[in-house]
Amino acid sequence: MIKYTNIKKSFSGRTVLNDISFSVAEGEIVFILGTSGTGKSVLLKNTVGLMKPDSGEILFQGTDIVQLNEEQLLEIRKQCGMIFQHPALFDSLTVRENLAFGLKRLKKLNDDDIEQLIKQSLEDVNLSLDILEKKPSEISYGMQKRVSIARTLAIHPQVLLFDEPTTGLDPVTTTAINQLIYTLSRKHKITSIVVSHDMGCAIDIADKIIVLDKGNIIEQGSVTEVQKSQVPLVKDFMLEVSNDIS
Ligand SMILES: Nc1ncnc2c1ncn2[C@@H]1O[C@H](COP(=O)(O)OP(=O)(O)OP(=O)(O)O)[C@@H](O)[C@H]1O
Ligand SMILES: [Mg+2]
Repeated sequence: MIKYTNIKKSFSGRTVLNDISFSVAEGEIVFILGTSGTGKSVLLKNTVGLMKPDSGEILFQGTDIVQLNEEQLLEIRKQCGMIFQHPALFDSLTVRENLAFGLKRLKKLNDDDIEQLIKQSLEDVNLSLDILEKKPSEISYGMQKRVSIARTLAIHPQVLLFDEPTTGLDPVTTTAINQLIYTLSRKHKITSIVVSHDMGCAIDIADKIIVLDKGNIIEQGSVTEVQKSQVPLVKDFMLEVSNDIS
């Protein structure tokens, strides 16, 4: 579905991504873990063309995203939806207007179809329709995160890119969102790339885990493979999970 080959990205001479290569198969859930500042968000932004790498190739179903112009990228973004680290809803718009915004921009639909998609996407993230007329400031942070997921789901993308979907959330909401990613992947065959600090979430639902450090992939493989890793940073991530359990 997506294939990254030799992705490099620097800012003012400082290397952030250093020769990253990996691929994501259709329907797979791939977790990208790493400490703060290792370039995880930069990697996701490159995937939807919000940023361009200095060199390398990102094939989305065979098309190199790096070479596309803005108009062509809009087509990609209909199929490859990104859920940002912060919910980034429009404060002055209601939940309904926030959900309708992208639909109106990306899809030529009538009002009834838009209403239908809004309701369906809210149900998908287990939110009640009661919040449709509320402003983001009137709902909790966890609900805002779910609305931001619903906003992307409504477009019906084939791929979802999640940038820290559970950071800052309580354990119950974290589990619910993790479960949602799993359901979307298995039930709707959506391919997911999830950037996270949370090894526990990765262990629960990932098909593949990639660990980044200082712009390099230092470990990758299935959950079982990564659990056996001897790389010190990966072992630290694992230790955190066992400390949480004990
Ligand atoms: N537009 C930009 N201009 C300059 N530097 C940037 C830009 N975007 C990101 N960086 C730098 O790239 C590095 C990686 O940033 P990135 O946001 O990808 O980190 P991250 O792994 O997502 O961290 P976190 O876990 O804290 O979200 C940081 O040092 C950041 O300052
Ligand atoms: Mg980030």
